Amino acid sequence: METKDCILSRRSIRTYSDKEISNETIEEIVRTAQFAPSWKNSQTVSYVAIKDEKLKSEIAQNCVCGFEWNTNIINRSKVLMVQITANGISGYNPDGTPTTAKGSHWQSFDAGLNAQTLCLAAFNLGIGSVILGIIDEPEIKKLLNLGDEYSISTLIPLGYYEDVPQAPTRKPLSEVLTIM
Ligand SMILES: Cc1cc2nc3c(=O)[nH]c(=O)nc-3n(C[C@H](O)[C@H](O)[C@H](O)COP(=O)(O)O)c2cc1C
Repeated sequence: METKDCILSRRSIRTYSDKEISNETIEEIVRTAQFAPSWKNSQTVSYVAIKDEKLKSEIAQNCVCGFEWNTNIINRSKVLMVQITANGISGYNPDGTPTTAKGSHWQSFDAGLNAQTLCLAAFNLGIGSVILGIIDEPEIKKLLNLGDEYSISTLIPLGYYEDVPQAPTRKPLSEVLTIM
C-alpha cells in the first residue's frame, strides 16, 4: 500500500474476522513500529501481545473503567497489544532531571508515535486496530506484574478486518493550518 493511501484509509476498527493473527505477523508489525522516532532514540516503548483468551477477557472485564464499549472491542479482538513505556527516560537527562519544562510529556509523545506506526503497519497487512484511552492502568499493571518503572500508555486490540468504516469528518484545513 502507498504511504498516503495507508494513512488516509486507516480507520479505528472495532470488529474483526475470525482469522487468527500469527506470531510472525505480530512480530512483523512490532518490528515496523520500532522504526517510529523517539526521544534521542531512547526507544522506551515495548509491547505485550496477549492472545490468551482468559487474560484478554479479564482485561476486557476489569481494566476499562467500566466502559462496556471497550470491553466488547477487546473481547472481539484476536490479539490485545498492551503498550508499555519505561518511565523517566524520554524527556529526561541521564541524571534524572527533566530536559525541558514539559517533563514527562515526551514519554507519551513517543508512545503516540509508536502506536500510530503500529496501527499503520497492521492496516497495511489487513489488520484493524484501535487505540484505547479509557483503560485502568493500575489494574493492568497489577495483572501483568509491572512495577513503578513502567507505565501502560494504551491498549490496542487487533484483528483482521472485513469492513473498513467511513472516515469520521475532519476539520477544514483552514482551521488546522496557518502558513505565515
Ligand atoms: C488517545 C486516543 C484514545 C482513544 N480512546 C478510544 C477508546 O477508548 N475507545 C474507542 O473506541 N476509541 C478510542 N480512540 C479512537 C478514536 O475515537 C478515533 O481515532 C477517532 O474517532 C478518529 O477515527 P479514526 O481513527 O477512524 O480516524 C482513541 C484514539 C486516541 C488517539
